[in-house]
Amino acid sequence: MNFQFSDEQLMLQDVARKFALEEIAPIAAAHDASGEFPLATIRQMGELGLMGIEVPAEYGGSGLDAISYVLAMIEISAADASHGTIMSVNNTLYCNGLLKYGTEAQKQAYVRPVAEGRAIGAYALTEPQSGSDASSMRIRAVRSADGSHYVINGKKSWITSGPVADFITLFAVTEPAAGAKGISAFLIDTSKPGFHRGKSEPKLGIRASATCEIEFTDYICPAEDLLGKEGEGFKIALGVLDAGRIGIAAQAVGISRAAYEASVAYAGERKAFGQSIGSFQMIQQKIADMKCRLDAAYLLTLRAAWLKQQSLESGARFTTEASIAKLSASETAMYITHQAVQIHGGMGYSKEMPIERYFRDAKITEIYEGTSEIQRMVIARMETGLR
Ligand code: CAA
Repeated sequence: MNFQFSDEQLMLQDVARKFALEEIAPIAAAHDASGEFPLATIRQMGELGLMGIEVPAEYGGSGLDAISYVLAMIEISAADASHGTIMSVNNTLYCNGLLKYGTEAQKQAYVRPVAEGRAIGAYALTEPQSGSDASSMRIRAVRSADGSHYVINGKKSWITSGPVADFITLFAVTEPAAGAKGISAFLIDTSKPGFHRGKSEPKLGIRASATCEIEFTDYICPAEDLLGKEGEGFKIALGVLDAGRIGIAAQAVGISRAAYEASVAYAGERKAFGQSIGSFQMIQQKIADMKCRLDAAYLLTLRAAWLKQQSLESGARFTTEASIAKLSASETAMYITHQAVQIHGGMGYSKEMPIERYFRDAKITEIYEGTSEIQRMVIARMETGLR
């Protein structure tokens, strides 16, 4: 057991913190208000190596570990959760499965531009009628008679970075009678004919992260863009979500930390009844409870990241720990941002301060990449072996 970070991990944390404070924090409120995708800062993050942190250098990434990724995600999300969302989708939902299952040619073609920040990646699992029950998807990919390509038709919804994505990992049904084992994964180039984007979703929070429906009409996907084997898609999707959920846990820790630190500062500055409100026991209790939950979420997220790193060698699953981290950190983010609004009173409710944005942004962490209900189901199934 060693609670110290390596020099390399601290260096990346420092790079992310500096960029977050100098370049992201000053524009976060404006992007939240307009809902405009922050393309310029995302490109700069790519140049800093923040878009492919765990991607090996030979595929254009930073070649760092899962702990480094968590530390960087926390810094970016503390400044702006929207940037955190875009970063997490690129780093994990998009790159993770490709690194594990992709061929050399697929990695060079599809990982490199995204890891270098020149292109944006997305992950398409959800459909209008299937969210939590992901394997009930309907989108079809039909193999051509000569086996050279697949023809894809159907819709996906709630696609994070969908409006701007250059490449997408898509999950589609290749064998309808086989259920979850009839789903396959494909690499989609959004510049090709047959790919369409719907209108962007107006959202409660993470408003600068663009989300939309996408549609495929007779999209031709060459057989060499099948990721993994036919029928392996659902396992790829769930394995990638194990990794993705650690990123969302880190995002939730970042939002929580920002709301907590603002609350501590405000409790010291704001006077009522002749003293700092931080001297009142009711505020002290809130601060103490917020801090305990923040530290617990942070440590659970680091544990999951550490196990994920070990799994590169051992191949062991870290499903339970990823779900525990995501569940605990997202519920902590809701708790802490709620308390932060309360401590700030009217100022917490005003758009003059970022507190109400933290509160709105926190909510999505309890929903995407598996709701809190799904995380509880995953944990209980893994613990009991019962379904
Ligand atoms: N890793 C590898 N394999 C896994 C796995 C994992 N974590 N979890 C399950 N599997 C395997 C199972 O072992 C099983 O294989 P076998 O039949 O060979 O044993 C197969 O996958 C099917 O598993 P289940 O029978 O458990 O599948 P299910 O249909 O009961 O669903 C579920 C399980 C946990 C509910 C799953 O559907 C789930 O996680 N749902 C939530 C979906 C979700 O998180 N969506 C988020 C969308 S992406 C997003 O939000 C992105 C964004 O915007 C940023």
